[in-house]
Amino acid sequence: MSDATIPSSVGSAVAPAPVPRGARITAITSGKGGVGKTFLAANLAAALARRGERVLVLDADLGLANLDVVLNLYSRLTLHDVFTGRTPLEDAILPAPGGFSVLLAGSGLIEYSRMTPEVRDKLLDVVARVRPRFDRVLLDTGAGISDVVLFTVSLADEVLVVATPEPTSLADAYATVKVLASTQAARPMKLLVNQTQRSGEGRAVRAQLQQVVDRFVNVTVAAPVKLDLVGEVPQDAAVREAVQRRQLLLETIPGCAAALGVSAAAGKL
Ligand SMILES: Nc1ncnc2c1ncn2[C@@H]1O[C@H](COP(=O)(O)OP(=O)(O)OP(=O)(O)O)[C@@H](O)[C@H]1O
Ligand SMILES: [Mg+2]
Repeated sequence: MSDATIPSSVGSAVAPAPVPRGARITAITSGKGGVGKTFLAANLAAALARRGERVLVLDADLGLANLDVVLNLYSRLTLHDVFTGRTPLEDAILPAPGGFSVLLAGSGLIEYSRMTPEVRDKLLDVVARVRPRFDRVLLDTGAGISDVVLFTVSLADEVLVVATPEPTSLADAYATVKVLASTQAARPMKLLVNQTQRSGEGRAVRAQLQQVVDRFVNVTVAAPVKLDLVGEVPQDAAVREAVQRRQLLLETIPGCAAALGVSAAAGKL
């Protein structure tokens, strides 16, 4: 589904707006914070780029961005500069180490703690303009169900929910799925289980989550949600090491268990 219909506001009033064809847009989101979205966005992008896709990662954690930290990029050009008209969009699209492009965001910017009509229109405009130029756009969202996160997710053709096997993460992943299913257009919803402790845990987590979704969400929505497991990425000390070194795991420690998990997940995306 590449002709996404975009809610003009999240929640009740929904006015569809067309987005030009082009890249498949995948929103990477989670209920609980700190589950690995940004690490995964960067490394999935590298894996997809390796498979020949033209990939853009857009840091959609607009006020609390840190994709730049993970990728060791020090550019001052961010979406904030694009939104305020200080920088042309072209200049803010930067090459990242893994062979993909990034649009960074600013950090500590209170103006992005709420989704205003201005920010909504600007984000919509940026996504529409980058879309024709890439095969894939990954939106690295913040955690939770704020209006900023929900609007960003509404721009995507598919949603990749990241969860860890922890009960708190699972509960929040369920909450995210429920809110998305009840307030937004039905789209493919995928699940990546990060920081697994044993092989096969991803499948078990998916089954558990799907069971609760079937019981409490799918009885209330027109289009039942089917969570599609794209893979599991094991808990691996190499991830922390790569993040500490501000390098892509796929480039520094490509043979480790987590890197293999990420590559396999990219293949299923
Ligand atoms: N598979 C893994 N194995 C070990 N550590 C991991 C793994 N995945 C993520 N981490 C650790 O979790 C930290 C947080 O990850 P990350 O910043 O990507 O989370 P996030 O979901 O983007 O957080 P936020 O919700 O704040 O945006 C990483 O810096 C890394 O140290
Ligand atoms: Mg993040």
